[in-house]
Amino acid sequence: MKRALIVGSVLLFGLSAVWAQQDSVKEVQTLMKGNGRNAGAMSAMVKGDKPYDQATVDTALAQFADTAKKLPGLFPDSAKGVKLDGDYYASPKIWEDKAGFEAKIASFAKVVGEAKGNVKDLDTLKPTLTAIGKECGGCHETFRVKKG
Ligand code: HEC
Repeated sequence: MKRALIVGSVLLFGLSAVWAQQDSVKEVQTLMKGNGRNAGAMSAMVKGDKPYDQATVDTALAQFADTAKKLPGLFPDSAKGVKLDGDYYASPKIWEDKAGFEAKIASFAKVVGEAKGNVKDLDTLKPTLTAIGKECGGCHETFRVKKG
Protein backbone atom coordinates (compact mmCIF):
# COMPACT_ATOMS: atom_id res chain seq x y z
CA MET A 1 0.00 0.00 0.00
CA LYS A 2 2.69 2.41 1.06
CA ARG A 3 4.76 1.45 -1.96
CA ALA A 4 1.81 1.99 -4.31
CA LEU A 5 1.35 5.43 -2.85
CA ILE A 6 4.98 6.31 -3.37
CA VAL A 7 4.98 5.01 -6.94
CA GLY A 8 1.75 6.90 -7.55
CA SER A 9 3.11 10.17 -6.31
CA VAL A 10 6.35 9.77 -8.28
CA LEU A 11 4.25 9.25 -11.40
CA LEU A 12 2.11 12.26 -10.56
CA PHE A 13 5.18 14.35 -9.98
CA GLY A 14 6.55 13.33 -13.38
CA LEU A 15 3.27 14.21 -15.04
CA SER A 16 3.02 17.60 -13.41
CA ALA A 17 6.58 18.37 -14.56
CA VAL A 18 5.53 17.59 -18.14
CA TRP A 19 2.48 19.80 -17.75
CA ALA A 20 4.47 22.65 -16.26
CA GLN A 21 6.85 22.61 -19.18
CA GLN A 22 4.05 22.49 -21.77
CA ASP A 23 2.23 25.28 -19.97
CA SER A 24 5.23 27.56 -20.12
CA VAL A 25 5.72 26.93 -23.84
CA LYS A 26 2.00 27.52 -24.43
CA GLU A 27 2.12 30.72 -22.46
CA VAL A 28 5.07 32.00 -24.51
CA GLN A 29 3.16 31.23 -27.69
CA THR A 30 0.01 32.94 -26.40
CA LEU A 31 1.97 36.04 -25.40
CA MET A 32 3.73 36.11 -28.77
CA LYS A 33 0.50 35.71 -30.70
CA GLY A 34 -0.83 38.71 -28.77
CA ASN A 35 2.39 40.59 -29.63
CA GLY A 36 1.87 39.76 -33.29
CA ARG A 37 -1.76 40.93 -33.26
CA ASN A 38 -0.92 44.16 -31.46
CA ALA A 39 2.08 44.96 -33.66
CA GLY A 40 -0.15 44.28 -36.67
CA ALA A 41 -2.85 46.64 -35.37
CA MET A 42 -0.30 49.44 -34.98
CA SER A 43 1.29 48.81 -38.32
CA ALA A 44 -2.16 49.04 -39.99
CA MET A 45 -2.36 52.60 -38.59
CA VAL A 46 1.12 53.48 -39.81
CA LYS A 47 0.25 52.18 -43.27
CA GLY A 48 -2.95 54.24 -43.26
CA ASP A 49 -5.24 51.19 -43.44
CA LYS A 50 -6.77 52.13 -40.07
CA PRO A 51 -7.25 55.50 -38.38
CA TYR A 52 -5.00 56.33 -35.44
CA ASP A 53 -6.47 55.01 -32.22
CA GLN A 54 -4.89 55.80 -28.85
CA ALA A 55 -6.61 52.95 -26.99
CA THR A 56 -5.21 50.38 -29.44
CA VAL A 57 -1.71 51.82 -28.96
CA ASP A 58 -1.99 51.86 -25.17
CA THR A 59 -3.31 48.28 -25.09
CA ALA A 60 -0.50 47.11 -27.36
CA LEU A 61 2.23 48.79 -25.31
CA ALA A 62 0.78 47.39 -22.09
CA GLN A 63 0.71 43.90 -23.58
CA PHE A 64 4.34 44.20 -24.75
CA ALA A 65 5.36 45.35 -21.27
CA ASP A 66 3.51 42.39 -19.74
CA THR A 67 5.31 40.03 -22.14
CA ALA A 68 8.70 41.49 -21.22
CA LYS A 69 7.90 41.04 -17.54
CA LYS A 70 6.80 37.41 -17.91
CA LEU A 71 9.37 36.11 -20.41
CA PRO A 72 12.28 35.65 -17.98
CA GLY A 73 10.29 33.08 -15.99
CA LEU A 74 8.96 31.08 -18.92
CA PHE A 75 11.97 29.07 -20.01
CA PRO A 76 12.60 26.41 -17.35
CA ASP A 77 15.24 23.78 -18.24
CA SER A 78 12.45 21.26 -18.81
CA ALA A 79 11.06 23.35 -21.69
CA LYS A 80 14.24 23.04 -23.77
CA GLY A 81 13.53 21.20 -27.01
CA VAL A 82 9.73 21.17 -26.52
CA LYS A 83 7.94 21.80 -29.79
CA LEU A 84 4.19 22.26 -29.67
CA ASP A 85 1.85 23.05 -32.55
CA GLY A 86 2.71 26.19 -34.42
CA ASP A 87 5.18 27.38 -37.01
CA TYR A 88 7.95 28.26 -34.57
CA TYR A 89 9.75 27.00 -31.52
CA ALA A 90 12.19 28.39 -29.00
CA SER A 91 15.82 27.90 -30.05
CA PRO A 92 18.05 25.82 -27.73
CA LYS A 93 20.26 28.93 -27.70
CA ILE A 94 17.88 30.39 -25.09
CA TRP A 95 19.23 27.84 -22.60
CA GLU A 96 22.79 27.81 -23.94
CA ASP A 97 23.16 31.60 -23.84
CA LYS A 98 20.86 32.62 -21.01
CA ALA A 99 22.66 35.92 -20.49
CA GLY A 100 22.32 36.82 -24.17
CA PHE A 101 18.63 35.96 -24.14
CA GLU A 102 17.98 37.92 -20.97
CA ALA A 103 19.78 40.90 -22.50
CA LYS A 104 17.33 40.78 -25.42
CA ILE A 105 14.38 40.75 -23.03
CA ALA A 106 15.86 43.67 -21.09
CA SER A 107 16.42 45.73 -24.20
CA PHE A 108 12.87 44.98 -25.44
CA ALA A 109 11.54 46.04 -22.01
CA LYS A 110 13.55 49.27 -22.15
CA VAL A 111 12.30 50.31 -25.59
CA VAL A 112 8.70 49.47 -24.64
CA GLY A 113 9.07 51.38 -21.36
CA GLU A 114 10.37 54.44 -23.19
CA ALA A 115 7.45 54.29 -25.62
CA LYS A 116 4.86 54.32 -22.84
CA GLY A 117 3.23 57.74 -22.66
CA ASN A 118 5.27 59.04 -25.59
CA VAL A 119 3.08 57.85 -28.42
CA LYS A 120 0.34 60.40 -29.00
CA ASP A 121 -0.24 60.46 -32.74
CA LEU A 122 0.86 58.93 -36.00
CA ASP A 123 4.08 60.95 -36.09
CA THR A 124 5.19 59.62 -32.72
CA LEU A 125 3.90 56.11 -33.42
CA LYS A 126 6.02 55.65 -36.56
CA PRO A 127 9.52 55.82 -35.03
CA THR A 128 8.37 53.95 -31.94
CA LEU A 129 6.95 51.05 -33.91
CA THR A 130 10.17 50.88 -35.94
CA ALA A 131 12.22 50.75 -32.74
CA ILE A 132 9.99 48.09 -31.19
CA GLY A 133 9.98 46.07 -34.40
CA LYS A 134 13.78 45.98 -34.27
CA GLU A 135 13.59 44.48 -30.78
CA CYS A 136 11.12 41.78 -31.87
CA GLY A 137 13.25 40.92 -34.89
CA GLY A 138 16.50 41.12 -32.96
CA CYS A 139 15.36 38.46 -30.54
CA HIS A 140 13.69 36.24 -33.16
CA GLU A 141 16.77 36.28 -35.36
CA THR A 142 18.78 34.39 -32.75
CA PHE A 143 16.29 32.81 -30.40
CA ARG A 144 13.31 31.74 -32.51
CA VAL A 145 13.39 28.90 -35.02
CA LYS A 146 10.94 28.34 -37.85
CA LYS A 147 9.86 24.73 -38.24
CA GLY A 148 10.85 23.56 -41.63
C1 HEC B 1 13.35 38.23 -26.02
C2 HEC B 1 12.93 37.50 -27.18
C3 HEC B 1 11.70 37.88 -27.94
C4 HEC B 1 11.15 39.14 -28.14
C5 HEC B 1 11.65 40.48 -27.64
C6 HEC B 1 9.97 38.93 -28.96
N1 HEC B 1 9.81 37.61 -29.25
FE1 HEC B 1 8.34 36.81 -30.44
N2 HEC B 1 9.09 34.94 -30.09
C7 HEC B 1 10.18 34.63 -29.32
C8 HEC B 1 10.36 33.19 -29.25
C9 HEC B 1 11.43 32.44 -28.48
C10 HEC B 1 9.32 32.63 -30.03
C11 HEC B 1 9.02 31.13 -30.28
C12 HEC B 1 8.11 30.58 -29.18
C13 HEC B 1 7.58 29.19 -29.44
O1 HEC B 1 7.01 28.95 -30.51
O2 HEC B 1 7.69 28.34 -28.54
C14 HEC B 1 8.54 33.76 -30.55
C15 HEC B 1 7.42 33.63 -31.37
C16 HEC B 1 6.71 34.68 -31.92
C17 HEC B 1 5.58 34.53 -32.81
C18 HEC B 1 4.98 33.21 -33.32
C19 HEC B 1 3.95 32.74 -32.31
C20 HEC B 1 3.25 31.49 -32.75
O3 HEC B 1 3.40 30.47 -32.07
O4 HEC B 1 2.54 31.54 -33.76
C21 HEC B 1 5.12 35.80 -33.10
C22 HEC B 1 3.94 36.20 -33.99
C23 HEC B 1 5.97 36.73 -32.38
N3 HEC B 1 6.93 36.03 -31.67
C24 HEC B 1 5.81 38.11 -32.40
C25 HEC B 1 6.59 39.01 -31.67
C26 HEC B 1 6.44 40.46 -31.74
C27 HEC B 1 5.47 41.20 -32.63
C28 HEC B 1 7.38 40.98 -30.87
C29 HEC B 1 7.64 42.42 -30.55
C30 HEC B 1 6.54 43.27 -30.21
C31 HEC B 1 8.10 39.85 -30.29
N4 HEC B 1 7.59 38.68 -30.80
C32 HEC B 1 9.15 39.99 -29.39
C33 HEC B 1 11.02 35.53 -28.70
C34 HEC B 1 10.83 36.92 -28.66
